[in-house]
Amino acid sequence: MRVEIKNYLDGFADREAALKMIADVDETAFGEGFSEEERASPIFGVIDDDRTFLAWEADQVVGVSANFSLDVSVPGGSVPTAGVSFIGVRPTHRRRGVMSAMLDNLHVDGLSRDEPIAALWAADPAIYPRFGYGRASRLLRTEINRAHGDLSDAPVDESLRLRMVESGDDFPFTQPIYSAERAARSGVPAVDERWHARQTWDPLSSRDGASTLYTVMAEDDTGVRGFMRYNVKPDWTAAHDDGKFQIYRMMSRDPAAHAALWRYALTFDLMTKVSWFNGPIDDPIHLWLTYPRHATRQIEDALYVRILDLQSAMTARTLSDECDVVIEVTDHRFPDNAGRWRIAGGPSGTTCDRTKDPVDVALDVRLIGDAYLGDASFREFARAGWIDESRPGATSKLDAALRTDTPPYCPFVF
Ligand SMILES: CC(C)(COP(=O)(O)OP(=O)(O)OC[C@H]1O[C@@H](n2cnc3c(N)ncnc32)[C@H](O)[C@@H]1OP(=O)(O)O)[C@@H](O)C(=O)NCCC(=O)NCCS
Repeated sequence: MRVEIKNYLDGFADREAALKMIADVDETAFGEGFSEEERASPIFGVIDDDRTFLAWEADQVVGVSANFSLDVSVPGGSVPTAGVSFIGVRPTHRRRGVMSAMLDNLHVDGLSRDEPIAALWAADPAIYPRFGYGRASRLLRTEINRAHGDLSDAPVDESLRLRMVESGDDFPFTQPIYSAERAARSGVPAVDERWHARQTWDPLSSRDGASTLYTVMAEDDTGVRGFMRYNVKPDWTAAHDDGKFQIYRMMSRDPAAHAALWRYALTFDLMTKVSWFNGPIDDPIHLWLTYPRHATRQIEDALYVRILDLQSAMTARTLSDECDVVIEVTDHRFPDNAGRWRIAGGPSGTTCDRTKDPVDVALDVRLIGDAYLGDASFREFARAGWIDESRPGATSKLDAALRTDTPPYCPFVF
């Protein structure tokens, strides 16, 4: 039977009925849906009614999908991005092409709004590479045993003071730091007050025994120099206090402010562990810890990127080094991207034009998604047998051009 993708409001009496359907489908797909309280909350405040879809088979809704309208930082600027989310298919209708049809629709929707890339967080890393998504950024998952949380040679600045607010109120203080991070790193989506409300919405019912979300700021007479959003989850089931200090976001302008925030977490009474599920892979904590072996440090795939419009995507970012390389791209879903392109330019700008010149490197569009934000190595791809180099040295040139000194980082899951 044919699957039809429609706007999520089509066929429903009102928005609440349509949102309830999204919640129902996602509950069957993920095992957890959205309560009535959540459906009326800022979680849904960022959804774009024009970009949220249901998949119907006859009179049955079998899948849900949505694009958020994001703006993601890239080297030298930022790029409008289709933020793919909510993907779920009823278990009764899996492996029949429902998700494929939904993704095709989201990609066309992105292209129709001049978004040269799509980006997503994958619940399962096996799903998206076949659709041309590359692993464009990584995250650092850290857990530190507070008993071994001594820091060595971490900078100290006596002029720094700490101040706490509830996270829902931190937007005016934290936004300048967030914007500075966006300017310094690729992969960081812009956050407005709606996104801030979504990320700090924190009702008692969803805390799982933890405190409310607090933001502690490190500041001096010049203003806020860093902030950490966290909650604490007490646990008295052991013979001693066994709580957990959970970091949700930490960003700082300078190392001394960053060290002050880490010290705050690592000296918090009654907590035995400090965890951060999504930190940047270059966070200096492992350099400062006196006993790094007692900390868990795991690097995982984070943001996935799919190049929808190669020419616009490439010209939207700068290159780290001068480059003039001809690539032959395969793209089974978007033939407009396929074929031969000359990538040229440097730190002041990039050109990406059709050419008939001899090919230097042949590769799949997925690998450009992998490398787009600056965190992949074409030489590694060559070692993996994923690319063909016809001009010796061209792979190294691409590496030097696309890689960035500061690794990309997406601070939140969407
Ligand atoms: C993942 C999910 C959306 C896939 O939906 P679906 O309609 O079954 O997917 P399709 O039939 O369009 O599959 C397309 C291709 O992806 C593959 N695929 C689908 N789900 C996969 C998975 N979980 N792991 C690996 N491959 C997967 C299919 O085998 C198929 O491959 P093929 O093109 O080689 O035949 C669905 O299984 C689901 O809702 N899972 C639970 C929720 C979830 O994980 N959502 C993703 C959130 S990021």
